[in-house]
Amino acid sequence: MPDPLTITPETIERAARCLREGGLVAFPTETVYGLGANALDGRAVARIFEAKGRPRFNPLIVHVTSLAEAETLAFFDERARKLAKAFWPGPLTLVLPREAGSGLSDLVSAGLPTVAIRVPSHPIARDLITAAGIPVAAPSANLSGRVSPTQAAHVAADLGGKVDIILDGGPCTAGLESTIVALTADAPLLLRTGALDRAALENALNQPLAEKPQSAIPQAPGMLASHYAPRARLRLNAETGAPGEVFLGFGAREGTGRGTTLNLSERGDLLEAAANLFSFLRELDTAGVETISVAPIPAHGLGEAINDRLRRAAAPRPEQTRSE
Ligand code: TXA
Ligand code: MG
Repeated sequence: MPDPLTITPETIERAARCLREGGLVAFPTETVYGLGANALDGRAVARIFEAKGRPRFNPLIVHVTSLAEAETLAFFDERARKLAKAFWPGPLTLVLPREAGSGLSDLVSAGLPTVAIRVPSHPIARDLITAAGIPVAAPSANLSGRVSPTQAAHVAADLGGKVDIILDGGPCTAGLESTIVALTADAPLLLRTGALDRAALENALNQPLAEKPQSAIPQAPGMLASHYAPRARLRLNAETGAPGEVFLGFGAREGTGRGTTLNLSERGDLLEAAANLFSFLRELDTAGVETISVAPIPAHGLGEAINDRLRRAAAPRPEQTRSE
């Protein structure tokens, strides 16, 4: 288990290299410690979910160092730009439409058409992201179900054996997660209260923030109406693809049907399967077929979250139920 590293130019450079190479680095921010991975690399992002032991894919916050960089990843309207200019760097996360061609892994936003972005003010977080030269996906660096860590020792206790490097920046000053505002609908929405005061936001926007009931925060993104769900039906645990279906394989299980076939991981690697899941579903769905048959996915490790997402995608959706 890695001992937390004290901060020097060398340890920052080592951590930055680790991120570029697909590793996991826990680092301090002004709010709480984050568990970072390269947001452009689906396998690296899948490792975050594996390390946290989450049974579901929850969308993650992407950390960058400037508004200019953020604008290459997400669409900023005037309101978004106003908030970014007023409160970045700082403990504000904006949920915005993803920019096409951003290069972000689909797993970062758990298949949603939106992405959460934040520009931290903590100098160590900034130095690390700058040195890595990539956007860094990072949830709080705790095990699923535990509280967010505000000291390197908390991270070590929760995730010690599962992260490559822990940067020790001392205790976090805010000790409370960032405030999350969604600018994806007409009214700006407060998705999570946090270290940035609601009044400050409303002042800057010159309008009150609508609030979502706690239950509507996408703890389970697949349940959200706005969440990407394939138009096609899904047939799970399929041994093989039937004629007219497209087949999503795993491991040695290949489709024998005609038409498109993709394999989540020919090697039967769950990390690779998680990294491919959302983009492959989307790709097969655009083939316009009625049914996507999906090979059985093992239930252990990341397989739990993959199967959860597949079951949600396979469940009848309200629109379908209504029209039937
Ligand atoms: O202060 C913080 O925000 C810390 C530090 C490390 O930056 N990060 C953090 O991340 O608290 P996490 O993953 O523990 O919480 C992120 C929250 C989740 O509740 C997630 O559902 C929400 O952000 N979220 C992320 N992307 C979203 C999206 N596209 N739409 C709606 N909610 C989103
Ligand atoms: Mg968290």
